[in-house]
Amino acid sequence: MKILIKNGTIVTSGKIFKADILISGGKISEISDSLKDKDAELIDADGKYIFPGGIDPHVHMHLPTFAGYSSDDFYTGSRAALFGGTTTLIDFVTPRKSQSLPDALIERKREAENCLSDYSFHVSPISWHKNLKEEIQECIRQGITSFKVYMAYKNSIGLEDNDLLKVMQIIANEGVQLTVHAELGDDIENLRNQYFEEGKTSPEYHALSRPDYTEANAVKKVINFADQTGCKVYIVHVSSQKSLKYISEAQKKGLSVYAETCPQYLLLDDEKLKGSFEETAKFVFSPPLRKKEDNNKLWKALSDNLLLTIGTDHCPFLYEQKLLGKDDFRKIPNGAGGVEHRLSLLYTYGVLQNKISLNEFVKISSTNASKIFGLYPKKGEIAVGSDADLIIWQETDEFISSKTHHQNCDLNIYENIKIKGKPLYVIKNGKIINSEGKFEKNIEKGKFLKRK
Ligand code: URP
Ligand code: ZN
Ligand code: ZN
Repeated sequence: MKILIKNGTIVTSGKIFKADILISGGKISEISDSLKDKDAELIDADGKYIFPGGIDPHVHMHLPTFAGYSSDDFYTGSRAALFGGTTTLIDFVTPRKSQSLPDALIERKREAENCLSDYSFHVSPISWHKNLKEEIQECIRQGITSFKVYMAYKNSIGLEDNDLLKVMQIIANEGVQLTVHAELGDDIENLRNQYFEEGKTSPEYHALSRPDYTEANAVKKVINFADQTGCKVYIVHVSSQKSLKYISEAQKKGLSVYAETCPQYLLLDDEKLKGSFEETAKFVFSPPLRKKEDNNKLWKALSDNLLLTIGTDHCPFLYEQKLLGKDDFRKIPNGAGGVEHRLSLLYTYGVLQNKISLNEFVKISSTNASKIFGLYPKKGEIAVGSDADLIIWQETDEFISSKTHHQNCDLNIYENIKIKGKPLYVIKNGKIINSEGKFEKNIEKGKFLKRK
């Protein structure tokens, strides 16, 4: 199948220019003026931007928790992602205790078989053990180039500091990428229990038990470990301005420290946690929402290249799952959805409010993640030879709602927030899958991406 996109304005991480794009065999085969091909399906993109398909480097589909699985599986979550223009997802492999990383990877690949977007995983060492190095090497042979560690959640998947240091040494020796959830688990656990014992049980105490210094001090600590080991570190879901100081110092020192934030930390603040359980439970995720001032500093850090990517940390739960913590905020499953809205929110509140340029929009929603996680130039680029994952963008004027979204969830943390841009067409691997809001019925399954 061939597609010819005529007259669009192509936006890449570095350029904006008018040209036609010819797609054949799932790839971009030509970019030039006045292209013709009588066999190709024609799309007129006059007056429209064309962006590379989005890459969300941080999603949790079908995540097992004490409250059951997160409510989007790979099928429903990737479908929602595609609606919003995200054509590649990076999810996680979290082994069960005593399960090896390669075994967990095989199991997770099976769970992801119905994913509609292309996908990969960050694989999580949840303990240090004597075969860990060989397990990591096997995952690398299987096409995994990033490994995720948790400094929080110490009673399940989090690592103690001495184990973290040993894991980082292995990752550094293998020359691959560490990604890290940076929050000081022990301090948080103490505060959680203290609040609960004082009878402070509402969702607001989820946020109060995870103050910004518990993130910033974890960031500082992992950066010190990176300095000692030479490990490349990517800090996920940075939420507080305090953390930015340490990231900036590390980058100035020449350390390979990259960082991500999420739309929720740019657009929402801790006022959302004031109110009834019904109103606030959906805002329970980790790290928690911060102050307005943090939102502003994070936007600035994006335009200063201090933060390089936007992930969503997509991990929705139904209200009935959140209800498990009605009388104890510690029992509310942590997480919220957003994979579908990432590009629209970033465009509306970033580009249209002059906080980021169009090129920065492309960088932080697609190209940078592709480069950091070994997918470039296959993904995240509009160039001859790259995968034909493209979005043709349209202006819109609508409100986000759980009634109309495609995520499998009865809650939406962006309820009633206005968006002013969304995909008109989404093309994945050279096939039109969303055209003017109409979704193809038989979308080809996504592929597992072996990364370099
Ligand atoms: O609250 C969150 N973010 N849940 C998903 C797991 C994680 O910590 O990223
Ligand atoms: Zn996390
Ligand atoms: Zn996460």
